Amino acid sequence: SSSATVSEAIKRITVVGGGQMGAGIAQVAATFDHQVTLVDVSPEALERGRQYMGKSLGRVAKKKFPEDPAQQTNWVDSILGRIQGSTELSKGVSQADLVVEAIVENINVKQRLFADVAQAAPADCILASNTSSLPIGRIFENLSAERRALAVGLHFFNPVAQMKLVEVVRTGENSEEIVQKALDFVRAIGKSPAVCQDTPGFIVNRLLLPYMMEAIRLLERGVADSRDIDTAMKLGAGYPMGPFELADYVGLDTVKAIVDGWYTDGEGLKGDSLFMPSPKLNELVAAGHLGVKSGQGFYNYK
Ligand code: CAA
Ligand code: NAD
Repeated sequence: SSSATVSEAIKRITVVGGGQMGAGIAQVAATFDHQVTLVDVSPEALERGRQYMGKSLGRVAKKKFPEDPAQQTNWVDSILGRIQGSTELSKGVSQADLVVEAIVENINVKQRLFADVAQAAPADCILASNTSSLPIGRIFENLSAERRALAVGLHFFNPVAQMKLVEVVRTGENSEEIVQKALDFVRAIGKSPAVCQDTPGFIVNRLLLPYMMEAIRLLERGVADSRDIDTAMKLGAGYPMGPFELADYVGLDTVKAIVDGWYTDGEGLKGDSLFMPSPKLNELVAAGHLGVKSGQGFYNYK
């Protein structure tokens, strides 16, 4: 625990990284009346993010106001109006109560980002990473003890607007007060939290990644094709998506970054055959077939 204090309630959120996760987090926070700044290095990503949020909100608006197109537009515009895009990190975080990072899954890039965030964010700002697989403690290890005390994992699930869980990952340096603030925030944006210690994969990914990799190995051994494996798990185990649909949805680059990271460097997971490199996965990623987001993965989306 520490003497560091946090702001009363989290009202201003800055999300860094405007990809599929960051845009979803921004959308959900704004839907629940928070003031949001969405920061990305790429203006094109910010534009894509805005279109993605507009489409997603549009679908909800149609259900909410089925007979009233003007109301639909008003509702979507009022939410988008609470989200400001920016390519300037230091300006973007200068007023934040909470910064949620959702950039590329790379420890060095995330550490560099938070070194910059720490230069510009208010001293009582909560810092959070949406990392899928990296230790929260390592992402923040170069920051001051005061900053580390206010740093947690807030792990959202894809698609953010539809998935109700957020894992709240606590480190040994967090006080009860910080964990409580994080839980309050998760509930304030309509999600349900699960608290977890800072271990590789937290809860969901520690169980999901071995499952996805076993599915890929079934395919590699020629036991069944991807369609039949997906059908089997949907109709035989009640999963909403099969393992290949899900891997394509998550992004094959992200899946590869997670398993490679654990296989070479994971605390307690290094060399674990569950996360052994897969020739099929490596081949798809090398060819730029990253799943739904690139139009091709295990399946074709074009
Ligand atoms: N904004 C807000 N809410 C929305 C929405 C939107 N744009 N669109 C739909 N919703 C709501 C719906 O109203 C519904 O809420 P209720 O249950 O309260 O009615 C809820 O979200 C679910 O939406 P749908 O009924 O439209 O969902 P569906 O039945 O078509 O299923 C799915 C879609 C939820 C994506 C489902 O296929 C699914 O669960 N797939 C598996 C996804 C998964 O496992 N994700 C985790 C990936 S791993 C990960 O993310 C972690 C990592 O680090 C890699
Ligand atoms: P993505 O590739 O869709 O988006 C990443 C975005 O970050 C891009 O728009 C990129 O321009 C931007 N970016 C990269 N470096 C940046 C920097 N230094 N400053 C600002 N912006 C930067 O990736 P994603 O799928 O949204 O994943 C983002 C994070 O969320 C990763 O850590 C990933 O592991 C995690 N995550 C992913 C999923 C998933 O299903 N894809 C689920 C939960 C968590």
